[in-house]
Amino acid sequence: MRLLVCGGAGFIGSAFVRLRQADHGDEVVVLDKLTYAGRRENLEGLDVRLIEAGIEDPHAVASAMEGIDAVVNFAAETHVDRSITAPDAFVTTHAVGTWVLLEEARRRGVRYVQISTDEVYGSIEDGSFTESSPLQPSSPYSATKAGADLLVASYHHTYALPTLICRGSNNYGPRQYPEKLIPLMILNALHGDRLPVYGDGMQVRNWLYVDDFARGIGTVLAHGTPGETYNVGGPDECPNLEVVQRIIQLTGNDDSLIEYVTDRPGHDRRYSLGSEKVRALGWEAQVRFLDGLQQTVRWYRDHRAWWEPIRSGDYREYYRRQYGTQIKGGRALS
Ligand code: NAD
Ligand code: DAU
Repeated sequence: MRLLVCGGAGFIGSAFVRLRQADHGDEVVVLDKLTYAGRRENLEGLDVRLIEAGIEDPHAVASAMEGIDAVVNFAAETHVDRSITAPDAFVTTHAVGTWVLLEEARRRGVRYVQISTDEVYGSIEDGSFTESSPLQPSSPYSATKAGADLLVASYHHTYALPTLICRGSNNYGPRQYPEKLIPLMILNALHGDRLPVYGDGMQVRNWLYVDDFARGIGTVLAHGTPGETYNVGGPDECPNLEVVQRIIQLTGNDDSLIEYVTDRPGHDRRYSLGSEKVRALGWEAQVRFLDGLQQTVRWYRDHRAWWEPIRSGDYREYYRRQYGTQIKGGRALS
């Protein structure tokens, strides 16, 4: 296939491109704005044409979609905490950007896959969300992602555009930007920095190894029914505190590094996704959480050249603003 992968220089998009080229030999064009989270390094060793532009730019989108069979849109602002302090880019990318992509896809009649999130359903105390659960997003991040989903669905309903929506649970694995829980805790633990746990640390997330999500998206792209939404949830749930304690063990530290800090405003307590519908298409998660976490810790230990430039750049200022404290720079203690 000839794929346009928007946001393909990010964490999940680059894993998807890597998998598609290895397993299917797809021809890939990546359209990516290269925000702080998008990195050329993530595409190293892959045979892709990278167009550096935003999905909200209609000219760039029109030329990127030339000769394309399908669009997979990962492009997004993805950190909930940043959406609370500065929601502007979330509105532009998720609402305007998705609309620009849909308009061009409609002009060409191209199959369109929107990558979405379990956060659009909000928080759930017991049981799991299905695709027909109501949308009750809590943060500017999830509200704008839900808005994008509704726009995508409207293009199927109104214009019969062959659209698919794929909602994933919390991903983890190599190349995740260290503002997110797991890579942040791994890098802090490797440096002997404090591990900032929000609130009581008993919030539960449904962890999905990034390659499992990438395979799930491939399944939906190939076998999904246009107009439908598919949940892709991880095999295991775990409270944040336990995730942090596992990372402490895997990095040879002790619990004294844990620091309970002020909770995230509007913090969702628990996510859980039912994935029966994508399973019926033949997908199954392959990586259990404790195995994937071990592999992820190993990857960060072995790939300092990937994260050292991040930890010594603008990220330091972000960290100081977000946590009111400094991180240590330089090389990891090991
Ligand atoms: P990421 O932050 O690592 O990557 C996002 C990518 O999008 C970056 O390469 C960035 O440069 C690019 N981008 C941002 N704004 C853009 C714009 N206006 N135009 C073009 N490119 C732009 O994010 P990720 O974790 O890889 O998430 C990818 C997608 O998966 C997102 O849509 C996210 O909502 C969804 N998702 C993420 C998770 C998760 O746990 N990380 C779970 C479910 C769904
Ligand atoms: O559920 C899917 C979503 O998962 C994706 O759509 C988002 O793009 C992705 O960022 C992620 O959102 P979360 O808010 O769940 O992920 P985050 O890594 O920010 O936080 C995971 C949990 O850990 C959450 O309960 C907040 C908590 N946390 C996070 C950070 C960064 C802490 O306790 N301390 C921290 O320093």
